[in-house]
Order: sequence, then C-alpha cells, then structure tokens
Amino acid sequence: MEISVEVNGVMQNHDVEPRTLLVHYVREVVGLTGTNIGCDTSSCGACTLHIDGEAVKSCTMLAVQADGLKVTTIEGLANGDEMHPMQTAFMECHALQCGYCTPGMVMASVSLLDEVPKPTEAEVREGLEGNLCRCTGYHNIVKAVLSASGQDVSEQAVSVGGGQ
Ligand code: FES
Ligand code: FES
Repeated sequence: MEISVEVNGVMQNHDVEPRTLLVHYVREVVGLTGTNIGCDTSSCGACTLHIDGEAVKSCTMLAVQADGLKVTTIEGLANGDEMHPMQTAFMECHALQCGYCTPGMVMASVSLLDEVPKPTEAEVREGLEGNLCRCTGYHNIVKAVLSASGQDVSEQAVSVGGGQ
C-alpha cells in the first residue's frame, strides 16, 4: 500500500506491505534507527515515538495506520545541534546507563510533560510505567523529568523511590 507519512518534518512516500509495523517502517524503510525494539509483547516502551505529538509504542501500530500523520522520532527532537531540554536533563541527571531504553523513555517523558507540565514524583513514575529500564533503577530518570519540568531536584527535594 502507498503511504505518505511526515517523519521529523520530512514527507516520506513509500509502498509498504500492510502488515509492516510502524517501528519496522521507521527503522528499516525510513532508516532512522534511534527508535529501538526491546520486546515482542508491547511492554517495554523502547519503541516509543510521537504521532501527532502523542507518545505511541510504534510496535503496536501498523505503518499504514500512520498514513497522513506526523511522526516524530528521537532523531527529530533536537533543534539542530541544540538538544531538547529533556535530552539535556537526562544527560545532566545521569538518567541512562546502556541507553537502550533512553530514546523511548525521552519521547514518553516529553509527552508526559506536555500533558502534565509540573508533575509530582508519583505522577512521573505512573506516567512512565509503560517504559522499562533494566539499568538505572528509575530514580535518575524520574529526577531528569522533574528537572526538565523546572522543579528542584536537589537530593533534599526528591525522595529515593526505590524502583518504579
Ligand atoms: S518494542 Fe515496542 S513495547 Fe517493546
Ligand atoms: S539505561 Fe539500560 S535499559 Fe535503561
């Protein structure tokens, strides 16, 4: 099927098989491999990107369902050489280790702050519960999201939650 999808501001027109998952389309057809695949059960969130500004697990959607829509991947988040504030916050708060979950975690976090600009720690944990991380124990990820929302993340201000 012919589809037209705007990916990171660039129109993409391709002939895809109807069964192609959006994550495979983005990685293998468009060639943007920042969006990761971490499971085959729709549970890890590594494949999270934005469709018309909302976070979506791209392994749960067919490429043909994105026809006519706007997709933003982790590659499209920065403004040229300038990182998105969420990317900066992840870097400054040491919110990644292996980095495999990070693109999806960042995309989900940006979407979370769009919906709840000043979330509580509990709201961040709840908002990111669909994104799994094997490395960090989540604390620094939560800290990064709170920091990106402009809140004080000094050790005194954020309690250690002990997992998600
Ligand atoms: S690869 Fe999509 S949720 Fe795991
Ligand atoms: S940093 Fe390794 S899975 Fe999250």
